[in-house]
Amino acid sequence: MITWGISANSHDAALAVFLDEKLVFASHSERFSGIKNDRDLDLQMIAYAKQKFGGAPDRVVWYEQPFKKTLRQLWAGQGWKKRDNDIEIYMARYEIDAPIEYVSHHHSHAAAGYYTSGFDNACVLVIDAIGEFETMTIWKGQGDKLTKLWSKSYPHSIGLFYSAMTQRIGLKPNEDEYITMGMAAYGRNDLFHAMVTDIVDSFEKFTFKKNLHRGCLDWRPDLTVKDSFEIAASTQYVYEHFFIEALRKAEKISGSKNLVLMGGCALNCLANRHTGNFFDNTWIMPNPGDAGSAIGSVLAEHPNWRIEPKYFTPFLGYDMGSRTSNEEIVDYLENNQICGLARDKAEFGPRALGNRSLLADPRGADIKDRVNAIKQRQEFRPFAPAILEEYVHDYFSMPSGWDNSRYMQVVARCRNPDLFPAIVHKDGTSRVQTVPNDGSPFRKLLELWYAQTGCPMLLNTSLNIKGQPMVNDHADARNFERHYGVKVFN
Ligand SMILES: [Fe+2]
Repeated sequence: MITWGISANSHDAALAVFLDEKLVFASHSERFSGIKNDRDLDLQMIAYAKQKFGGAPDRVVWYEQPFKKTLRQLWAGQGWKKRDNDIEIYMARYEIDAPIEYVSHHHSHAAAGYYTSGFDNACVLVIDAIGEFETMTIWKGQGDKLTKLWSKSYPHSIGLFYSAMTQRIGLKPNEDEYITMGMAAYGRNDLFHAMVTDIVDSFEKFTFKKNLHRGCLDWRPDLTVKDSFEIAASTQYVYEHFFIEALRKAEKISGSKNLVLMGGCALNCLANRHTGNFFDNTWIMPNPGDAGSAIGSVLAEHPNWRIEPKYFTPFLGYDMGSRTSNEEIVDYLENNQICGLARDKAEFGPRALGNRSLLADPRGADIKDRVNAIKQRQEFRPFAPAILEEYVHDYFSMPSGWDNSRYMQVVARCRNPDLFPAIVHKDGTSRVQTVPNDGSPFRKLLELWYAQTGCPMLLNTSLNIKGQPMVNDHADARNFERHYGVKVFN
């Protein structure tokens, strides 16, 4: 039995393939098409999935309920879009005619998190911009069962608030929220009270005075580009007020001390440091946004296919294989300080975790400028460290409730920012990736780097040409080498 889980026809499309109950493949469309945040499925990705994993699907599980979405779009004044949301017509474009089952948007998010968490009981908190109608939900997971306890619906949405402010800054909503978060460290929250007065109705009720789906470009026309960092800082501060209220409510009504956090807002690694104030343990599936619902939709239909953490891997995408020894890569890094690494299966999710990474020696003052010259991104955005997990507490002060951060989902305070300026943000924090002792090639590379240099971490940032998705295959890796003159090992 071949089951395809699909999240598409909106933004950042993705496909997951299950052979019987086993998850064998998952990828964002963008990695194959080269179109950043590609909203549609990609024919090359479909051909790859068919060729590698048994052919066309016997059935498809779709990550949301299109008719409900159509009703919401009608209600929101976006017109009657039934044909746009006809998934049978949509799938016919790709010559897929398997029967289609539909799972609600937030149920897909909740299932992607809970059924990969390893918890037997948990509170599941889902926060995103918008599903069909729902914008925030709280669930209780018990055994194989997921039960919805509470929900908030459109137009009130914390995610839409963050996206609207991202747009107000002049960035791209639904895409550049992570830049807003990075900018927040440079502002002083001076606009917090004005933002609350003008826009927030109630933190406790999660309500707003405006429908932020329509944006807020008209908010405070007196503010100019130079105020962007203040807007970003205040936006983050307002978001964290809402987030703390959401955690408080989730803990209270679920009665559980295990938290599963999902939805696009779970990517806010700065706010995520608060989870430990309410919960003992936190799990965020490494791809908590809509793309991850390609997996979640299938698990929602088949709770008994749950994936235990020891079997769960984010390395689910295109397989490049590997040709170079770790010894060769570490020797090169010692002499040249920077190299690319593209090998084995690509990460499914927004972060490069060692298989499609640009790596650098994190020590020294000039490395940030050198990596920035390659990445060509805003100077204020920091790079992340990948560290041997057992050394994380020596170098970073982890937030309470977080012993590790294997998927770069939370920030930690660096204990020696002067020694590692390239991987520390303006506010003294780092978005850490802890690499466990799991025998993976990347773990062994870090071990070798530590043995030869005495430094247990490397700077790790995604391997992509500016404005393009991460490198996927050998042709992309060669393009990267040509474009930047940086050696990429396979
Ligand atoms: Fe979502």
